Amino acid sequence: MTEDEIKKAVGWAALEYVIPGTIVGVGSGSTASHFVDALASIKHQIEGAISSSDTSTTKLESFGIPVLDSNEVDSLDVYVDGADEINSYMQMIKGGGAALTREKVIAAIARTFICIVDINKQVDVLGKFPLPVEVIPMARSYVARELVKLGGLPEYRQNVVTDNGNVILDVHNLIITDAMALESYINDIAGVVTIGLFANRCADVVLVGTQEGVKVIG
Ligand code: 5RP
Repeated sequence: MTEDEIKKAVGWAALEYVIPGTIVGVGSGSTASHFVDALASIKHQIEGAISSSDTSTTKLESFGIPVLDSNEVDSLDVYVDGADEINSYMQMIKGGGAALTREKVIAAIARTFICIVDINKQVDVLGKFPLPVEVIPMARSYVARELVKLGGLPEYRQNVVTDNGNVILDVHNLIITDAMALESYINDIAGVVTIGLFANRCADVVLVGTQEGVKVIG
């Protein structure tokens, strides 16, 4: 199987966790895009979706799946999304697709976060994938200097403006051994909107796509 076929298998496997008659939280990225294809196959059985990005919204709407405003949703049973890295504690780095802020909000609302990844995303220690940090534009240089003090090498993601009108710093050179503490610390830097570490609210179930099939953790 190619990497994309593995992503497809894991995206479709997540369908099993969707509860008929409910609203579904939908993530972003190539693996989540396969999940949207799968969701379209049962679109008459769900009430609608909350989407983590304009790209996912466009795709959901193209299938006729109603996309609801998260402000109008009191509770969410299931949120399905990919990750850039995930460790054995189900803590993740996300935001490779720059959708981290909405993803974090939906993860916070959801009762169950189903993370869908291919086996290449599993790591012992987070940090090889550059850690995305969404920052308001006028704070970019200040936040970058603060990240350097932590031993990181922040790189401004060129030509990217998030769906919220902000910019992204990708932080290289981090070996993240205490993900919860680092998430809280970086969140506290003035000008940071969201950090792509999902450690304090980690995944509840991980579906890992492998050549041998989909492995369920959690
Ligand atoms: C987007 C994300 C994605 O879930 C993450 O980048 C994984 O993407 P892909 O499924 O394409 O590998 O966090 O902000």
